[in-house]
Amino acid sequence: MDQDAQKNYFEIAYRTGSDVWTHIPYHAVAMRMLPPLAKDSFILDIGVGRGLWLHKLVAAGFRVIGLDYVADIVRKGNLDLKSENLGDRARFVVGDVTDIPLADSTFDCVTDIGVLQHMASGQRIGYMSEVARVLKSGGYVLNVSLSKETQRFLGFKPKHSADASFEKFGVSYYFFTNDELNGLFLDYGMKLVDQRIEHFDARTDPDDSIALVMSLYKKD
Ligand SMILES: C[S@@+](CC[C@H](N)C(=O)[O-])C[C@H]1O[C@@H](n2cnc3c(N)ncnc32)[C@H](O)[C@@H]1O
Repeated sequence: MDQDAQKNYFEIAYRTGSDVWTHIPYHAVAMRMLPPLAKDSFILDIGVGRGLWLHKLVAAGFRVIGLDYVADIVRKGNLDLKSENLGDRARFVVGDVTDIPLADSTFDCVTDIGVLQHMASGQRIGYMSEVARVLKSGGYVLNVSLSKETQRFLGFKPKHSADASFEKFGVSYYFFTNDELNGLFLDYGMKLVDQRIEHFDARTDPDDSIALVMSLYKKD
C-alpha cells in the first residue's frame, strides 16, 4: 500500500467535501458505549477529521485532543474551537497514529472512529503500541471499525468474500471480525468490556450498507 497516496486521498476528500464517512450517524451509540468517566477526563481522539465526535465529547464535559495527519483539517479544527471559545477544552494536533507526539500515560480514554481499518498490516504494531503507550493504566479504548459483517461497500462484498482486505483509489480498507479485533487489543493488555455490531446506510452508493463493529476495551 502506498502511504502517501492514502494520505493524499484524505487531504483531497476534506478539501473537496467528499468525506462521506464524516456523516455516518454512529455518535449516539458510541456515546452510550463510553465508560463512566469523570467530568474533565482527558480523551484522545485519533483520526479526528472534522471533529464532529470531538465536539460531542467536549459537550459531554471532557477535555479532548484530536489527532490527525491532515494538517489543513487540524488548522481548521483549531480555528473552529477558537471561534466557539472552546480552546481551553480541546485542541487539534498534527501527527501520525503510529508515532503519536504526546507523552506516555496521558489519557483516560482513546477513541478511534475509522482509523485502524485503514492501517496496513505492517503498521498495526506501531498503532497498537502507541495507543497503549499514551493510555493510563485502567484507561479505555473505544474503537469503531468496519466489520466483516458488511454486505456491500464501495463495490466490495466482505461478508461473502474470503478476503477482508480491499483497496480502492489508493486507500486500503480492512473489515474486522470481532475475534480478530479482540485478539489484537488483548496482545497489548486491553480486555474487551463491551462490543456490538451496528448497521448504517453509507452515502457511497445507493446499495451500500456498512456494518461497524463498536468495541470498548480496558487497559490492565
Ligand atoms: C475514515 S476517516 C474518520 C474521521 C473521523 N474519525 C470521523 O469519524 O469522521 C479516517 C481519519 O483518519 C485519519 N488518518 C488516517 N491514517 C492516519 C494516520 N496514520 N495518522 C493520523 N491520522 C490518520 C484521516 O486523515 C481521516 O481523518
